[in-house]
Amino acid sequence: MSIVIGVLKSPDPAERRVALVPDVAKKFRQLGADIVIQRGATDGANCKESDFADAKWVDSADDILSSADCVLSVDTLDEAAIGKLKSGAVLLGMLQPYASAARVKQLQEKQVTSFAMELLPRISRAQSMDILSSQAACSGYQCVLIAASHCPKFFPMLTYAAGTIRPARVLVIGAGVAGLQAVATAKRLGAMVFAYDVRPETREQIESLGAKFVDTGVSAAGTGGYARELTEDEKRQQAEKLGKAIADADVLITTAAIPGKRAPQIVSAEMVAGMKQGAVVVDMAAESGGNVAGTVAGQNVQVGPALIIGPTHLPSRMAVHASEMFSKNIFNFIGGMIKDGQMTLDWQDEVLAGACLTHAGEVRHAMVKQVLGL
Ligand code: NAI
Repeated sequence: MSIVIGVLKSPDPAERRVALVPDVAKKFRQLGADIVIQRGATDGANCKESDFADAKWVDSADDILSSADCVLSVDTLDEAAIGKLKSGAVLLGMLQPYASAARVKQLQEKQVTSFAMELLPRISRAQSMDILSSQAACSGYQCVLIAASHCPKFFPMLTYAAGTIRPARVLVIGAGVAGLQAVATAKRLGAMVFAYDVRPETREQIESLGAKFVDTGVSAAGTGGYARELTEDEKRQQAEKLGKAIADADVLITTAAIPGKRAPQIVSAEMVAGMKQGAVVVDMAAESGGNVAGTVAGQNVQVGPALIIGPTHLPSRMAVHASEMFSKNIFNFIGGMIKDGQMTLDWQDEVLAGACLTHAGEVRHAMVKQVLGL
């Protein structure tokens, strides 16, 4: 019997991505897996049923949950859905491992082998599997498009018959994958781009994209490529230096998140009040609490001189490419472990072991265990 890979439609109406696209489904088929897809799952990514040769289509999520050996999902499953998974099933997706102890416990008790792709070790070999990175690239790009469409100024310098228009000044705070994509996108649109990150190594990356690094003299290099939390003194020094750059910006894009924690508030109410009239702020960290005072997730709010936009579901706004990237990341993660229709998990593989949330009735990820008090 071949393994059955099931593809769920997100129950969130704002989520348009799907975890499997036709080209990748074909590769899984070549490895001998059977594919079952929930009807409607692929609509947002513009894939038709006829694009998936040999796939079986079912109407309800229950049909997938009760039959699939390996379930692919773009987002996390709620407790009702987890309850319907087959015992011993493999679950892969962006499972928000830090969001709910009850969910993790349920996965553990159900003996589900769950891989939260957010937990993937950030080593070079794992780059082709890194969903956080691929989706962050989509988010960074989208942030700039949203900002440009709300900004009452041109981004590029423009010379016209009656004179010259100065380019907009764009400041990006947080220069990880999303921030660097935002920098590159704003540059392509012709803005003057400035960027800041607490990790000092980002200076070179920012400058290589043609933007200017805002130097505050604070470094927060942490372990594993992540930033650590700043001390109160460091936060004060950072705020002072950043304040000026924020006051000069026409557009501010913030992307600073800390995995598993509330996003740090970097831009205070006073800084917002000191911005230019008509300034546009896009806070990419809106869903995890926001980097900017006044951000409301899912809303645009006018706060003094600035319009603060708290977008949600950013990768979903470009669901075709976001799904393609997501799906390829999944295949690169798990495809090597499927042969002749059978899946054999290699626990010696540090990438696989590192992304594992629960397996064989245990919570396998030490940090999740600690943060959730399990
Ligand atoms: P993220 O989404 O966790 O954070 C966004 C950015 O915000 C980070 O650059 C962080 O330094 C910055 N930040 C955090 N607190 C801040 C503060 N208070 N002020 C200003 N900036 C702040 O980051 P992302 O994009 O997921 O990855 C971060 C880094 O991880 C990458 O730039 C890279 O060096 C490394 N990485 C390695 C990979 C690999 O080798 N497989 C794959 C992806 C990333």
